[in-house]
Amino acid sequence: MTDTKFTPRVFSGIQPSGNLTLGNYLGAVKRFVEMQESGIQTIYCMVDLHAVTVWQDPETLRHNTRELAAAYIACGLDAEKSILFNQSQVSAHAELGWLFGCVARLGWMNRMTQFKDKAGKNAEKMSLGLYGYPALMAADILVYHATHVPVGEDQKQHVELTRDIAAKFNHDFKTDFFPQPEPVIDGAATRVMSLRDGTKKMSKSDPSDLSRINMTDNADTVAKKIRKAKTDPEPLPDNLEDLAGRPEARNLINIYAALNGQKPEEVIAEVSGQQFGQFKPLLADLAVAKLSPIGDEMTRLMGDVAEIDRILGAGADRAAEIAEPILAQTFDIMGMIRSRR
Ligand code: TYM
Repeated sequence: MTDTKFTPRVFSGIQPSGNLTLGNYLGAVKRFVEMQESGIQTIYCMVDLHAVTVWQDPETLRHNTRELAAAYIACGLDAEKSILFNQSQVSAHAELGWLFGCVARLGWMNRMTQFKDKAGKNAEKMSLGLYGYPALMAADILVYHATHVPVGEDQKQHVELTRDIAAKFNHDFKTDFFPQPEPVIDGAATRVMSLRDGTKKMSKSDPSDLSRINMTDNADTVAKKIRKAKTDPEPLPDNLEDLAGRPEARNLINIYAALNGQKPEEVIAEVSGQQFGQFKPLLADLAVAKLSPIGDEMTRLMGDVAEIDRILGAGADRAAEIAEPILAQTFDIMGMIRSRR
């Protein structure tokens, strides 16, 4: 249940670590746009402080941050309706992140599956920032008293941890200062899978570029990747239950549904009996029709980086206006003296 004391407010973020994928688009950005149009205040961030938890070449990070801003706008986010900015320009994120690092417990961090997945057997060699990443993510959300967090399935555990941090803070300091934000995970594509292996998430860091569709891929590349997508020799059935055990087929149906604003049930009813040789060209045409205009608009926007930087700066000012009073109250609740000015 959302706390009624708090005005509904949406916050979400994406790492500017390059290769924005169809998974990021369908699982996140497309839904950011829907929420922007719902009338609730929406705040969307390029989380550069999160990106540097693993090595980022400085020039590439600058490029990727601008390109992500261009993608947000090309997908339909409007810098007037939503607050769009990069995280490092609003210092309240890092400051509250530190405080939450003192609230969160090591045991909670140890349960985070994303750290385990990223670190693998090399945990000792990972940065301390990567380990503490979820405390910064909690700060991103709670420094705005955000109540709703649209994300893909893989971020659910981090939003749940955010709720735990809010609850522990409120309990420790006998307050109800922080809300319990809700993850908003819905639609047909909350977990878009790799085109090469339907049991693995589509990911910007997969070594095979054929495993994902990048938002910057041109029409030919998108069509080629769909043509080469792994499938099975069976025709498509007439109901979703019969896709159990066919993860690649299920993934392509989900992608089609999400791109076309349909339910997977509706898609399967329309394409039942088709072989992949018939269905893949339909999916490729749809994907190209939906994604090409976005890619073209991104290229156009990247032609004027000064304008992108201006948008990010203006967004950061608006974000800081909300975040700073919340951070100041947090310091006060914790007993820190704020006597300057
Ligand atoms: P990131 O940058 O890995 O991914 C951005 C968003 O894209 C979603 N996503 C997917 N959705 C469906 N299918 C996929 N294959 C897929 N891959 C990625 C993610 O779920 C996410 O919503 N920790 C976050 C960034 C973050 C954040 C926040 C998010 C930092 N602070 C505060 C929300 C609120 C991350 O690494 O996302």
